[in-house]
Formats: sequence, C-alpha cells, structure tokens
Amino acid sequence: MSDRDNQLWLRLWRERRTAFHQQAVNPLLSRFWPSLELAQGSRVFVPLCGKSLDMLWLAKQGHEVIGVELSPVAVKAFFRENHLQPVKRRQGPFTLWQHGRLAILCGDYFALTRADLGQIDSVYDRAALTALPQAIRTGYVAQLRLLLPSASPVFLLTIEDAEEHASLQQALGVDPELQALYAADFDIDLAHVESLFETDPHAPEQPARRAEYKVYRLSGRTQEH
Ligand SMILES: C[S@@+](CC[C@H](N)C(=O)[O-])C[C@H]1O[C@@H](n2cnc3c(N)ncnc32)[C@H](O)[C@@H]1O
Repeated sequence: MSDRDNQLWLRLWRERRTAFHQQAVNPLLSRFWPSLELAQGSRVFVPLCGKSLDMLWLAKQGHEVIGVELSPVAVKAFFRENHLQPVKRRQGPFTLWQHGRLAILCGDYFALTRADLGQIDSVYDRAALTALPQAIRTGYVAQLRLLLPSASPVFLLTIEDAEEHASLQQALGVDPELQALYAADFDIDLAHVESLFETDPHAPEQPARRAEYKVYRLSGRTQEH
C-alpha cells in the first residue's frame, strides 16, 4: 500500500467524507453469516474495518472481533458513537483499542503480522478488498494468506456494477477478478446474488445502473504454512 493512499484515507476520515459507512448492520451479514456455522467465542478478523456497526453485530453473536483500521479518527468514533470506553495500549507500530469482545488495531493492514493478530478463525470483508486500488489487491490477498490459518473461511460482500461484466451470465456469477485473486488458495462459493437498480447520488440525472450485491463464502484449502 502506498503512503499516498494511506494519506488519502486519513484525510477522508478527518474531513468526514465517509459515505461508505453504513448506518445499520449489513442485512446480508445477518442473513448469511450464520451459514458459516462458526463456534461461539471464535475469533473474527475484520480488515479495513472503519467504524462499521457490523463489528458490534458479530460481537453480539458471541464472537471475539479484531479489526484493523488505519485512521485513529475512525477508531475513536467507533467507540465513542457506540458508548463504549476502550482501553488503549501500544502494540509495536499499532495502537490496540479494546472493549470486551471488541478490539481494533489502529495502523496499516500491510504491516500486520500473525503475532499482532493472534489466532484468527474467520474473516469478514465488506468494502475492504474493494476499497483498494486494483493494483494492490493481489498484495491484500497475499497478506491475508500470511495472516490466516489455511482453513479459515472468508465471508466477503461485494457490490458489482453489472455493466462492467461482459454478459448477464457473468454479472450473476463469480466475479472474474475475484476468481483470479482467490481461486489458487480458496474454494469460492457464491452464496447469494441480489440485483438492485441504483442512481448515482452525485449524478441523479443519469439513468439508474444495475448493481449486483453478492455474498461469497471462501474456504481456504492450502496447507498450513
Ligand atoms: C471503504 S472503507 C470500509 C470500512 C468498513 N469495512 C465498512 O464496511 O464500513 C475502507 C476503510 O479502510 C481503511 N484503510 C484503507 N487502507 C488501509 C490500510 N492499509 N490499513 C488499514 N486500514 C485501511 C480506510 O481508512 C477505511 O476506513
């Protein structure tokens, strides 16, 4: 990840330009997460977590949650807006903020080690991979592989622009970019697709475009490294 991208994210949070933040728990998370059948108390990693309310929902299901987020503005807002008083401590290049089952490491995802994260049983990715420029997504996935035990599932939500796909069949299937990024190490199960017609709030005069909301369950299948 380039320092320029990091500076951009830090600035977006400082200037409160955070339209990506959802004001409610993602309905596809609450509907499809239970299908992973993970044990109570198992530990969920939330990369590039922002101040997502989805972390609260995961903790309410009995999970230990550990997010990583670059911006201290986001981390502070997460705990303040949810009326939680975290304990803060330095951990190498990160600051760990923790309250009960919820923890966020504030710092750069690309600097994380397995020792920083501890045991991880699954991953929740909403607008993490897809927030990154295409050129560094391979690095994001390679880093995920380093951090995860091989069998841990990844629950991935994406929003794909149907018009960027070559055909309707492709628009409703596994995204070719995800296939290229994950297929070497993961079995990819496209669990759900939902089509919505949406107008761009910045260009309401433009015709609505079809977006595909997809739920992927990825199961790691390479040997433990
Ligand atoms: C599109 S937002 C999504 C946030 C969250 N997943 C959600 O659903 O609301 C992407 C987040 O990644 C954070 N981020 C970007 N690059 C990062 C990095 N290298 N390490 C940690 N966090 C990063 C940004 O600050 C931002 O909060």
